[in-house]
Amino acid sequence: MPITISKRAQAIKPSPTMTVSAMAKKMTAEGYSIVNFGVGEPDFNTPEYIKQAAHQAIDDNFTRYTISAGILELRQAIAEKLKRDNDLEYTPDEIIVSPGGKAAIITILTAICDPGDEILIPAPYWVSYPSQVEMLDGKPIYLPTDETTNFKFTPAQLQSVLKSLAKPKALILNSPNNPSGAVYSKEELLAIGKVCLEHNLTVISDEIYEKLVYGEARHYSIAQVLPPMRDNTILINGVSKAYAMTGWRLGYAAGPREVIKKASAVQEHNASCVTSITQKAAVAALNHDDGSIERMRCEFQKRRDFLVSELQKIPLIKCPLPDGAFYAFPNVGRYYHKNKVGTNDSIRLCEYLLKEFHIALVPGVAFGCDECLRFSYANSMENLIEGIRRFKAGLESLG
Ligand SMILES: Cc1ncc(COP(=O)(O)O)c(C=O)c1O
Repeated sequence: MPITISKRAQAIKPSPTMTVSAMAKKMTAEGYSIVNFGVGEPDFNTPEYIKQAAHQAIDDNFTRYTISAGILELRQAIAEKLKRDNDLEYTPDEIIVSPGGKAAIITILTAICDPGDEILIPAPYWVSYPSQVEMLDGKPIYLPTDETTNFKFTPAQLQSVLKSLAKPKALILNSPNNPSGAVYSKEELLAIGKVCLEHNLTVISDEIYEKLVYGEARHYSIAQVLPPMRDNTILINGVSKAYAMTGWRLGYAAGPREVIKKASAVQEHNASCVTSITQKAAVAALNHDDGSIERMRCEFQKRRDFLVSELQKIPLIKCPLPDGAFYAFPNVGRYYHKNKVGTNDSIRLCEYLLKEFHIALVPGVAFGCDECLRFSYANSMENLIEGIRRFKAGLESLG
């Protein structure tokens, strides 16, 4: 008898990004030179001073389980970072360290979400939010946006959706946003926060791309601009994107003590704790600065400026300048209806561009926006130049 799969696992939808990325991997293995715009992580190495701290931790035999919420030294470093960068006061017992921002979010959702709870998710959204909510039997409620508002939802839209809901529990706010790069201003966060307070809505504020903002844009945290929101907010951040540490697996959540206490109890029974060595490396990352974050940010800004200006030159494409993260999210919908090869949705267009023009992109449908494609510019300038050349040729070929 085969082992039966649980209903919960059966309900998990395979990511629509997988077909295209599996195809890209296969073609690369077959010897094709693919320009990969699909990458969701910095292409830089982890800075030396952080790696040194990890070596030191191993040499010091700092290799045992730690307490579930994370070592005190690290939670203190996070508290200091939140004060320094975000003007927010948290004590170490209001902070939990998890194996990645992703794990921090599902741990927090497990602590606060009951079956049937409605979790508001602005679209486009990061792919894991809906699946995580569904795994906990919560109900994702989408707030659709498009390029006319730079992919930002409005407080009025939030008000009107809330009126129709039976069990609204939380809003997942992601600024800077993956995939759109949208960054909410101070004023926008203030207005959103007021609606959340009025409806007693919890905000899970995913700020993992905080350090990657460009030009005039500034990152603000919702509890920073509206202090009463502190009791309703769980802030998510981590070291993956800012410090080029995706493989180290460390994220964190800061929020009301009772929520963090329960989240730690949840984590005790799954991950136990984050790798001890990674925790020491993160202490170094947060407590020191050798200028590498700023160097990476400047490089990303150059690439963004190049990529987006090239995309904006293409007829029929609409692509607002993203203020943060390392993605561009052009609307290519007008190419769906006028082509001879039947590429009438984002998956088919991505498959076509990969097969015929050897560029890998992520279909917008994965993020809840089928009109768009996601470009990551976590790639060398040389690859961006070649990739955009192929992309233009691909669109022209549609006829
Ligand atoms: C918006 C967003 N949040 C959270 C994460 C999770 O990051 P990690 O688990 O690597 O810390 C990612 C990673 O791609 C992301 O894009």
